[in-house]
Amino acid sequence: MADKRSYDELKKMDRRRNFYSWSIQGTLDPLMVSHARGMYVYDVEGREYLDFSSQLVNVNIGHSHPVVVQAIADQAAQLATVAPAFSSIPRVDAATMVVERAGEGFEKVFFTNGGADANENAIRAARLFTGRTKVLSTYRSYHGNTGSAIVATGDWRRQPNEYATGHVHFYGPFAYRSEFFSTSEEQECERALAHLERVMQGEGPDTIAAVLLESVPGTAGIMVPPPGYLAGVRALCDRYGIMLILDEVMCGFGRTGSWMAFHAHDVTPDLITFAKGVNSGYVPVGGVIFSSELASYFDDHMFPGGLTYSGHPLAMASIVAALGVMESEKMLPNATMIGEEHLRGGLAQLASSHPVVGDVRGVGCFFALDLVVDPATKEPLGAPAMGAIKKELMARNLLPFVVDNRIHVVPPLIVTPDQVAQALAIYDEALTAAGF
Ligand SMILES: Cc1ncc(COP(=O)(O)O)c(C=O)c1O
Repeated sequence: MADKRSYDELKKMDRRRNFYSWSIQGTLDPLMVSHARGMYVYDVEGREYLDFSSQLVNVNIGHSHPVVVQAIADQAAQLATVAPAFSSIPRVDAATMVVERAGEGFEKVFFTNGGADANENAIRAARLFTGRTKVLSTYRSYHGNTGSAIVATGDWRRQPNEYATGHVHFYGPFAYRSEFFSTSEEQECERALAHLERVMQGEGPDTIAAVLLESVPGTAGIMVPPPGYLAGVRALCDRYGIMLILDEVMCGFGRTGSWMAFHAHDVTPDLITFAKGVNSGYVPVGGVIFSSELASYFDDHMFPGGLTYSGHPLAMASIVAALGVMESEKMLPNATMIGEEHLRGGLAQLASSHPVVGDVRGVGCFFALDLVVDPATKEPLGAPAMGAIKKELMARNLLPFVVDNRIHVVPPLIVTPDQVAQALAIYDEALTAAGF
């Protein structure tokens, strides 16, 4: 460690001055990270961890990719920042590359600082386009942590944006813990769609601006929708003139093995939101991709939204470089190969030797282990046991992604079969050591 201060001293200063997300501050003991390369993260004492979290499921290309780091450095030397009203060469290239990867039917991208404000702006666009207010989304979802900033704003920008109300929730499909008493994926799909239509009718379809869904819900448990569900939602939206926003913040840009997770489903949304994997989080960025119809609407209608760092040159340069290396190093086919040939079978085998693993589900480099007290009741494993398992994983130098009663198996897309085998052995040992 080049810094002359002791680790203890630095930790004390950190605990005194830093306020962390989603936490009771007094309970925290954060790992202090020094550097990271590829699949590995190193703490300030030099200990190496195999990263099976991709941090917050965002480091799709792995850590410190030299091509992307160099592109950011070069861009910083050329033009480090510029106001959002200006164009720049990296902004032209990033927008072109992002829209091309969304597929047919998309026209433009509005860049934001991250995923939450991407969703805010997609909702804003849908409300303006439809002249309606309500937004339907699922109970098992995460879409970001903003919502009040523009309503607290005092000037004119508040008035077209006073939408703190109008959010309605429904249940999406989840065969393992069905809300619909289903016994098959087909039944779950059919019943979830019937439920959604009843919610639309109950709310009044002509009050609903948008349905907002993660194409594959991530933090809520990596629940790949059954075949036909997203297409069924699209059909309901079309029937009632409702916009479909697909949130690809976590599942997009290669995580599931395709550029967009929805590409594996027979559906085209009106708006796509993204962040994380688009540049692996090397610089904060997100965005909203507009369909041709929505893009042309805003050709002659005001869009009352903006951000100081929209189209930030460092973010733009990092997107161009990150998408470039994803392609040249064939990271998407690797994600598919790893998911189908190594994770799916390997995790199923883990489940067969540890009954605490109630369900294994996912696609690409996006899998979850659902841990249960009893496979028959599916009662979720409690926080103390999950904490003990996490500790055992960390003790074996694996950085896990643990949420509620689940371990999300979400490595960077550059992971090798050997590293998967190593991680599977660690999950196995850690479950045994924790008494499962
Ligand atoms: C699906 C989804 N949408 C939105 C967000 C919010 O993104 P951000 O934290 O960049 O605001 C997240 C973050 O985890 C996410 O997983």
